[in-house]
Amino acid sequence: MTDLTATLGTLTLPNPVLTASGCAAAGRELHQFFDVGTLGAVVTKSIMSRPRSGRATPRMAETPSGMLNSIGLQGPGIDSFIENDLAWLAAHGARTVVSIAGGHTDEYVEITRKLNGNPAVSMLEVNISCPNVENRGQVFACDVLASSRVIGAVRRAADPDVPVFAKLSPDVTDITLIARACADAGADGFSLINTLLGMVIDTDTMAPALGGITGGLSGPAIRPVAVRCVWQVKRVLPHLPILGMGGIRSGLDALQFILAGASAVSVGTAVFGDPTAPVRVLAELEVALEERGFASLADAVGYAHRAPAQRLVPAAPEAAAS
Ligand SMILES: Cc1cc2nc3c(=O)[nH]c(=O)nc-3n(C[C@H](O)[C@H](O)[C@H](O)COP(=O)(O)O)c2cc1C
Repeated sequence: MTDLTATLGTLTLPNPVLTASGCAAAGRELHQFFDVGTLGAVVTKSIMSRPRSGRATPRMAETPSGMLNSIGLQGPGIDSFIENDLAWLAAHGARTVVSIAGGHTDEYVEITRKLNGNPAVSMLEVNISCPNVENRGQVFACDVLASSRVIGAVRRAADPDVPVFAKLSPDVTDITLIARACADAGADGFSLINTLLGMVIDTDTMAPALGGITGGLSGPAIRPVAVRCVWQVKRVLPHLPILGMGGIRSGLDALQFILAGASAVSVGTAVFGDPTAPVRVLAELEVALEERGFASLADAVGYAHRAPAQRLVPAAPEAAAS
């Protein structure tokens, strides 16, 4: 039996499979299909300070091997979230990673303070793929200074024993520059990656398919981009843990992220087609680790970075270069 214990900074989880923010709301819907307490943790939809109705419809469009969404951070606001969603998750024994979002640094800090002292919060995931209202709507995660300001402010405001993970956008020239800035500001780890900005034109109406015009691309189409981001960030900041995500549909998909350097993974878009995907991915990952001779998940984290002489199990044949 492989030891599946996953560690994300000071947080220890019984297994490495989590939901992805925005793809499982606050866990209630998935609980009809399996006990959400069996997951490593539930990552909740990004929450803002006040209730929001989100962007105009239509909010989703199918794309080859993926989907485009422009939900626009619809949500009940932090007070209702704490009273209803967080309380429900705690009552059902789920470990909870709370994803927070804001339009300016003070909003992130306000939300963080409201969550302080709440034992239901296992970790904070800071979604910085939001428009910064104080800088003409430029997305925080695309700017080194804005990213580090938000992460630094949340880290200072949060309970010291609650890990703060920066969730980064792949829509940047060099993700390692943003990661380093967040690390310098006190990030305890990274969630990689958020969606890629995309767009679909409806050729019948000859207009954008989404009410919000642009949207976030997710699903298997983005998996190679996500694995590349995990690899790059692990390479420059090997001491910081990574929660990897982007198109994970199977245990072998999850294994790619672990080998690239993720300590745990989130399953997002896959749950729309198969609500049991997170538990299936976990079972398949366990088999995949066992088959490759890993005694523990920890032994596999970042394994693909190792030089041949440091490999514990025989390496798979090199793929032909193309
Ligand atoms: C419908 C939908 C809503 C999402 N909402 C959020 C969100 O509120 N906050 C966030 O950080 N990421 C959000 N994401 C991004 C996912 O958490 C994840 O980073 C991304 O979809 C890649 O993983 P996947 O391909 O497994 O879905 C959302 C994704 C989808 C598809």
